[in-house]
Amino acid sequence: MKVPLMDIRAQYGPLRAELDAALADVLDDGRFILGPRVEALETGVSARLHGRPSVGVANGTDALVIALQALDIGPGDEVITTPYTFFATAEAIARVGARPVFADVEPESYCLDGDAVAERVTDATRAIMPVHIFGHPANMTPLMTLAAENGLVVIEDAAQAFGGVDGDWPVGEIGDAATLSFFPTKNLPGIGDGGMVVCRDATLADRVRRLRFHGSRDKVIFEEVGYNSRLDELQAAAIGAFLPLVDEWNHARRRAAGWYAEAGLGEHVGLPAERPGARHVYHLYMVRHPARDALRAALAEREIGSAVYYGVPLHLQPVFAGLGYAEGELPVAEEIARTALALPMHPHLTREQVDAVVEAVAESVEAGVATG
Ligand SMILES: Cc1ncc(COP(=O)(O)O)c(C=O)c1O
Repeated sequence: MKVPLMDIRAQYGPLRAELDAALADVLDDGRFILGPRVEALETGVSARLHGRPSVGVANGTDALVIALQALDIGPGDEVITTPYTFFATAEAIARVGARPVFADVEPESYCLDGDAVAERVTDATRAIMPVHIFGHPANMTPLMTLAAENGLVVIEDAAQAFGGVDGDWPVGEIGDAATLSFFPTKNLPGIGDGGMVVCRDATLADRVRRLRFHGSRDKVIFEEVGYNSRLDELQAAAIGAFLPLVDEWNHARRRAAGWYAEAGLGEHVGLPAERPGARHVYHLYMVRHPARDALRAALAEREIGSAVYYGVPLHLQPVFAGLGYAEGELPVAEEIARTALALPMHPHLTREQVDAVVEAVAESVEAGVATG
């Protein structure tokens, strides 16, 4: 059985009529940028995060850049983040002129390790930027404590984890700000680019609103240099149609993760862990195997989709060579980058597909294809 890594059409298919109508409404209205649908989406996201004001922007990368600038982070400042994330996280730090500082991650959750972060705090540190990677919430309590002790702000990169929970708190409302991406493969998707900044208070949200529109509130007076980073009505209409389904989709992802474990996948590869008290939303389902690349090739022969994410951690990327990190310096992240593989995961994955993936993994490993 052929099993794709993701299946966006299966996800959108049942909503096609609703989406067509929502998009047609936008065309009929003729208002395309920052209109009522963007406002409704901002309100809808806020409502899920105990009223935290949320501001739609053009994409998740801009959300990070704008959040950093709105919190006055810039040249001379250091921001501690994870090396095991999509490039945009560290790119945003560099984009505002600050210095990304990489700390190692936890071996189980693949998220920032609080002890490792503590070791990297200097007089120049201004912020910590954890990423809820693959949908697993970062362990926020030690990070928030460290931030409070050192007068730092915390920006959660929640691009992959809408609906995740850390202890008593939904991700997105723990730090001073949080950012979302609505890239079409995300667990709360759009049908193009889109993003959002979730803010600790109305003052920060006001600054984010100003920054997304060229540093102006009214197109007449320009108070600072900002961005053209607005969310459009077509995207907001689509994301707004998906928002009510995100819990059901996250639940279906968790159910599929349960099936993988039940079907014995853990006998062949390392399974993703869930920290006690955390709620993983499995944006991606990442397993571990020492011969990851050979396993991937063997799965491709069996028409099972898989993918490597962040195969070269950020501290070893050529663009950051000037920061002076050496191979072996962040060993946990490096080991995960060498051994982690995404297997099929989406809300419409069936038990039969899960069984087919597990069988293909078992065959590949048992055949020795994936042992070296
Ligand atoms: C962890 C993380 N941060 C930031 C981004 C950037 O989001 P976008 O692609 O919407 O700019 C992404 C997604 O690609 C991501 O996965």
